[in-house]
Amino acid sequence: MQSTQSDTLTIALTKGRILRETLPLFAEAGLEPLESIERSRKLIFPTSVDGVSFVVLRGSDVPTYVRHGAADIGVVGKDLLMEFGDEGLYEVLDLEIARCRLMTAGLNFSTRGHAAKIRVATKFVNIARAHYASRGIQPNIIKLYGAMELAPIMNLADEIVDIVDTGNTLKANGMKPLDHIADISSRLIVNRASMRTRNSVISALVERLTTAVDSRRAV
Ligand code: PRP
Repeated sequence: MQSTQSDTLTIALTKGRILRETLPLFAEAGLEPLESIERSRKLIFPTSVDGVSFVVLRGSDVPTYVRHGAADIGVVGKDLLMEFGDEGLYEVLDLEIARCRLMTAGLNFSTRGHAAKIRVATKFVNIARAHYASRGIQPNIIKLYGAMELAPIMNLADEIVDIVDTGNTLKANGMKPLDHIADISSRLIVNRASMRTRNSVISALVERLTTAVDSRRAV
């Protein structure tokens, strides 16, 4: 039977680096888009499993789609879950992909400024505030949307809070990592209502993904 839009199970994927690591893992769990996502300008993709579609979003929009039930399931970095919270969501599985660290960083030659006056540039405003508060510091937080490493160079900020993977971006911009805030990887999230109403199909999918994650770990 042809599936209708309302009975389609929608999975919101995070585009970019996370997407490149998500697609092979989902393929190992038997779920693949019917056409190449990276070569298309479309945003909705039917998959090899009847009644299951992918939508491709910015990471910061994935929890919003899943929280409101516009998507049943999502793949999103733990950094964004920490920043935006998990209200209305279940975090069901660590996919163990797109691993990185959330860190503070500053210029190589800088000494850590006077606590009361420190300026911190980041897109992770809530995480930054909580982290500096745990060190007894109330920073002046400057919200940016990308290229955080430029802020100390241009004297917009003293430190940044950002994700660090290889460390190459920090190094290339004369910066050093300072505090380790958290280890990050991508997580599978599920809308709370969907988990009740579509439990059997979601549980089957989570089980297949869990098996795929476990077999990678076993290699
Ligand atoms: C992220 C992050 C750093 C960089 C770290 O940016 O903001 O700039 O990757 O990676 P590295 O340690 O391997 O150099 P991304 O390219 O994801 O783009 P963004 O600025 O949009 O977050």
